[in-house]
Amino acid sequence: MDIEIRLSQFEASLSWPAVFGNHNPVVCEIGSGKGRFLISSAAANPALNYLGIERAVKYHRLIRERVERRGLDNVRLLNSDAAHFVRAYVPPLSVQDYYILFPDPWPKKRHHKRRLVTEGFLEALLPTLAAGGGLHYKTDFEDYFEQMLTVSRARPELAELQCRTISAALVDPEAADTSFERKYLMQGRSIYAADFQKTFSTTR
Ligand SMILES: C[S@@+](CC[C@H](N)C(=O)[O-])C[C@H]1O[C@@H](n2cnc3c(N)ncnc32)[C@H](O)[C@@H]1O
Repeated sequence: MDIEIRLSQFEASLSWPAVFGNHNPVVCEIGSGKGRFLISSAAANPALNYLGIERAVKYHRLIRERVERRGLDNVRLLNSDAAHFVRAYVPPLSVQDYYILFPDPWPKKRHHKRRLVTEGFLEALLPTLAAGGGLHYKTDFEDYFEQMLTVSRARPELAELQCRTISAALVDPEAADTSFERKYLMQGRSIYAADFQKTFSTTR
């Protein structure tokens, strides 16, 4: 079985049961990097389906090797721009959780427009999130975290469940969710995390 999905398979929108071969809830991770979170979560939750969306082909291939080695049949991988995928392909109300962990921070002000988490991105993403579904963020970049909070708090359909700072002094880097989190904790940097829940449905 090929674990990789390609946009050319789908005309306009996709069918998750066709992608995964079952009707289990779907969790999407945007920017999976080396796959640490995707792989450990999928292994721990075999009754959930995981899609790892990664734009960089180098990381996409690395995750593919790792997932195949682990024999995880609840993981699919997509090498694409997540913003385009969410906008053009993901059916309304069809995703149980989105994880956006350490998205590229684009620290220079003139590059802020390249950041993934914006008002416009949430406008496209939230209709695809199931009612009761979760939107989860982590970053080491305080300024970007503020942006994530501002655009998310402005959405009436989102309830803020948690907003926290993880101090490097208090946690074991080896318990980190992702490779970037582990690296930053080892450098003594604080991590910012927030979880939102969609409380009522909107569709596009
Ligand atoms: C800073 S890395 C973090 C990787 C991983 N989440 C971690 O924490 O270790 C950001 C990742 O997001 C990917 N990425 C950035 N923008 C993306 C997009 N629009 N669609 C899919 N992947 C994206 C990058 O290629 C990179 O692998």
